[in-house]
Order: sequence, then C-alpha cells, then structure tokens
Amino acid sequence: MVLAEGGEGTVVFTGQGRSWHMRIRSRDHAGAASFADWLTSEIGHRTIAAYRVDGEAPFAPAAVAEAEDAPIVFEGDDARGRTLSRAHCGRCHVVTRDAGEDSIGSTPSFFALKALGDWYTRFQRFYVLNPHPVFTQIRGVTEPFPIDRPSPIVPVAITPEEFDDILAYVATLAPADLGGPLVHQ
Ligand code: HEC
Repeated sequence: MVLAEGGEGTVVFTGQGRSWHMRIRSRDHAGAASFADWLTSEIGHRTIAAYRVDGEAPFAPAAVAEAEDAPIVFEGDDARGRTLSRAHCGRCHVVTRDAGEDSIGSTPSFFALKALGDWYTRFQRFYVLNPHPVFTQIRGVTEPFPIDRPSPIVPVAITPEEFDDILAYVATLAPADLGGPLVHQ
C-alpha cells in the first residue's frame, strides 16, 4: 500500500494545503486491506479528525473536508439538555455515562446512536420515528394525540426550545466505539 501526497488512488485526507491519496497494491495482504477499510470508515475518519498537534488539527478526512461548508450550529443549552434528556429520554435510553443509569436494554444508547453517520438527521426527527410518535408531544410541532388513541405511557412532552437543548446536549457526546476495526476474525 502506498500513502502519498497527490498522485493516484483514493483521497483519504487533506491538510497542509494538500490531499493525501491511498493506493493499495495488493488487497491480498490482510493487514493492508483492513488498514484501508479502517482509514475510510467512520472511526478512521474520526481518528483523523481528532488527531492534534499543538492543539491544531493538521488533517481532515476527505469526506469531512467537503461537509465543512455547512456546519451544523446548535443553539440550545447543552447543560439544560442533559437534564432534559435524563428526565425524558432516560426513561428508555442510556443518555449519560453516569453509573447506575437505568434504561431498557434493547433501546440504543445515545452514545451508540451518536456513532451513526446520520445521527443528527435521526435526532432531529426522532418524534416521527418509531416508537416515539405514540407518546411524544413537541409543542406546536406535533399533532395532539388522536382522541381515541391517547399515549399508552406517560407522554414525553417538550417545547421546541427544550428539543434544541437536547440536540445541543447530544452534539457534545462522544460516540460509542462500535467496531474494533483492527481486530481480525
Ligand atoms: C418509551 C421509551 C423511549 C423514550 C421515552 C424515548 N425513546 Fe428514543 N427510542 C426508543 C426505542 C425502543 C428506540 C429503538 C427503535 C428501533 O430500533 O426501531 C428508540 C430510538 C431512538 C432514536 C433512533 C431512531 C431511528 O430510527 O434511527 C433516536 C434518535 C431517539 N430514540 C431519540 C430519543 C429522544 C431524543 C428521546 C427523548 C426526548 C427519546 N428517544 C425517548 C424508545 C424510547
């Protein structure tokens, strides 16, 4: 495998005004293949993005370099969002790293959801994604529950401002490391 500035191959990261390309000479080599997979995966991208020299990030993964045009701005208050997440979402999801937090085992933790590339899209419209619609009310956003189908559980009832706070809190969370990319089976 060759990792070089410019030339042929996939662009894997950019930085120092240059782009760095990866060219795999032989996928038969298990180490090279799995390194290539890792480098182009979510976790590889995050590792590149997190790399710091003297507090500066010299390199950006190729995909993120493109996405930087439209950064997402979180206007909510993440400290309030943490409290709100515990109160409303923590009934089912693990939402903090605090020990002893109760949740429903089959429900994905916020950390696991955060590891998904499209976490923001999912959180932004969680109230239309199952199982939430039957028990979630966001003031002025969702329709009232149908009169013949009241919420089966104590509703999650929040305001749009509180929803922004929850999104701001989720934005601060470190994603769970879902894969061991360099482990061979
Ligand atoms: C009564 C239990 C319960 C509560 C309360 C709850 N959730 Fe969930 N949530 C679930 C379950 C169960 C899933 C997994 C659904 C699945 O896998 O199909 C889920 C999935 C999600 C997902 C991923 C959805 C998808 O399809 O990708 C997001 C995002 C989410 N919840 C956000 C929230 C937020 C934010 C709150 C609080 C405001 C909240 N949830 C409150 C049970 C709950």
